[in-house]
Amino acid sequence: MKILGIETSCDECAAAVVANGKTVLSNVVATQIPFHAPYSGVVPEIASRKHTEWIYSVVKEALNNAGLKPHDIDAVAATSRPGLLGSLLVGLSFAKAFAWSRNIPFIAVDHMIAHLYASQLSFAGKETHVSEPLTYPFLGLLVSGGHTIICRADAFDDITVLGTTIDDAAGEAFDKVAKHYNFGYPGGVIIDRMAQNGDSMAFRFPIPSFHKKKGHRYDVSYSGLKNAVINQLDRFRVKDGEIKPEDIAASFQKTAVDILLRALFNAAEDSGLTSIAAGGGVTANSYLRACLAQKLATQRWRGLRCVFPPPELCGDNGAMIAGLAWHYLVRGNRSPLSESASARVEGFKKNPWGNKQPA
Ligand code: KG4
Ligand code: ZN
Repeated sequence: MKILGIETSCDECAAAVVANGKTVLSNVVATQIPFHAPYSGVVPEIASRKHTEWIYSVVKEALNNAGLKPHDIDAVAATSRPGLLGSLLVGLSFAKAFAWSRNIPFIAVDHMIAHLYASQLSFAGKETHVSEPLTYPFLGLLVSGGHTIICRADAFDDITVLGTTIDDAAGEAFDKVAKHYNFGYPGGVIIDRMAQNGDSMAFRFPIPSFHKKKGHRYDVSYSGLKNAVINQLDRFRVKDGEIKPEDIAASFQKTAVDILLRALFNAAEDSGLTSIAAGGGVTANSYLRACLAQKLATQRWRGLRCVFPPPELCGDNGAMIAGLAWHYLVRGNRSPLSESASARVEGFKKNPWGNKQPA
């Protein structure tokens, strides 16, 4: 069964075809980065306009690359939440029109649940980096521009939030630090690259300590770190030439990853789960991957493994949408054509301590 997946929640106009929830037949991602770069952030009005201009050719290319025609597609899926409303509506409306005109099922999918699913896809003829398939239950590490979620997955749609950010998302902190220092856009990729030539011990940035409080063992906070790094900016300007920007990038990145891993390993320790599935743009970060690999190689964590999507599927893509949608489809679920877009994450269960929905 071949599903066309469409993703337009933010600044990537993406479409893909996936067979049987597993094999990626094509994956087209048209990035809008050059259009948002002059503003050092995503401009919602530009994003939705570009999606409107590009969606037809992106879908056409996804079909062509898979060697398929519209009548070969069995169902259409699209991201309906969370994201920028104007952008979401473009992909969602296109998917509904495609499904209606061909009289095939339409399935609306949550973007963050799809990020969690990405590591189960088979891409470019390769399984993701594991010898054995991922089996439920497992821990999820979801880190994107707008969300940071540590969760427990018991089935593709039975996901409980264990921890989340109490303020900013991790990706947002990368992007804001890069913006204030004029490092460039998008911040995460640039900081990752700069940090490779920097000293991560050059600056000591604060790690929040609230996690010791009851109910916060798996939560993270990035607002304090973000502000502490930005507050170095004046020193950075005055001592122009003395402070290496690469050192700022490396020290920030190290602290950001330390915060994340502390919460993740608390959850691993308490849950006793033996697999972690990672997903979201920030999980492409090379330092995060190296730290995790190093930790998992230690005696203490030898029984635990982490599965990452290939870098092409860490960020936003249509393949994760089509892959996840297959599971809803075979269970008999369909979304109505009245389905609307929403800015918020839905579909995750709340954690046992009754914390809010993930931010
Ligand atoms: O999942 P994603 O592509 O879009 C959202 O759902 O938000 O994630 C985008 C985020 C941005 O904040 C971007 O700076 C960050 O992922 N990102 C990275 C890296 N690549 C992308 N952050 C750190 N290191 C990277 N290599
Ligand atoms: Zn995303």
